[in-house]
Amino acid sequence: MILVTGVSGALGGLMLAGLRAQPDLEVVAGTRSGDGHTARRIDFDDPGTLASGFDGVDTLVFVSAGYAEDDVVTARHGAVVAAAAAAGVRHVIYTSLSASTHHTTIAVPHLWTEKQLAAASFDVTVLRNGFYSELPVSLAAGAAESAAATGVFAAPFGTGRISGVSREDLAAVAVRVAAEIERDLRAGSGSAHAGRTYELEGVSSLSGAEIAEVLSESLGRPVEYRDVPLTELRDELLSGGLEPYRIGHTISLFSNLKAGFLHASHSDLPALLPTVARSMREEIAEAVSGPVAAG
Ligand SMILES: NC(=O)c1ccc[n+]([C@@H]2O[C@H](COP(=O)([O-])OP(=O)(O)OC[C@H]3O[C@@H](n4cnc5c(N)ncnc54)[C@H](OP(=O)(O)O)[C@@H]3O)[C@@H](O)[C@H]2O)c1
Repeated sequence: MILVTGVSGALGGLMLAGLRAQPDLEVVAGTRSGDGHTARRIDFDDPGTLASGFDGVDTLVFVSAGYAEDDVVTARHGAVVAAAAAAGVRHVIYTSLSASTHHTTIAVPHLWTEKQLAAASFDVTVLRNGFYSELPVSLAAGAAESAAATGVFAAPFGTGRISGVSREDLAAVAVRVAAEIERDLRAGSGSAHAGRTYELEGVSSLSGAEIAEVLSESLGRPVEYRDVPLTELRDELLSGGLEPYRIGHTISLFSNLKAGFLHASHSDLPALLPTVARSMREEIAEAVSGPVAAG
């Protein structure tokens, strides 16, 4: 039996749907709001739900539960590792963060979790997800109106590039890997995915100047890129009511982008994805002005 956690989330929901589309697999949903009938109640902050929630599970698709201070996230993830071992889960698939992000503060709880998993008794496959393309796509789409009015796309990219990958592509890889592992377990054979760490970096990357170019094409007017200094970004975040921990993570992310670290050089995505990876250029063009021809 496969259990997917965090199914009300975007990534968990896509994974659940993809696995449930395969009739030979027994797939159970896990969510904090589980009622015990349509979904099991799995709340990483409430370890009691994990002891019963992981009962009978062979393959656990453990979706990271970020969006909190690091010590809260590590406590959550530590509870999952301990409960999976205690329940006799045979294989854990963990959604981590890709190598290009490892200088960002966001990577810390993921790397900690990978370490706990590596020391556990069950088999592990780590899916190191690249940055969601949602970040540059929503930045560009959100800036379209002002770019149309001013001819300027302002963002804290410096001269850096960001590689991005869609959640749909990441979910498709996770579905493939989880289904293959579960079938291997049923067949009593070892899985080729056991002990593997896959770098699922985005295969397309964009600079601020290139996003301005896509905006220019979509809006039908010249758009210039302007870099935003980190001090300006920090002031904007401080006045925007963002939770304090998110301010630190956001500054760290853009500092890494400016330094050129978020441009990935290697990805296992093409080898594992059953289709061609989505392009961020097309995602932005679609978000701004509807589907356009690939270019
Ligand atoms: N690669 C990237 O660029 C990137 C960007 C942002 C986030 N992430 C990470 O990837 C994860 C999945 O992304 P997403 O897009 O699906 O995020 P999302 O749509 O915000 O969903 C996150 C889900 O995490 C689950 N969760 C939160 N607290 C939990 C807890 N205490 N116990 C169990 N589950 C909990 C919730 O699911 P239920 O309510 O169903 O339990 C929530 O819906 C995030 O949680 C974050 O760790 C990665």
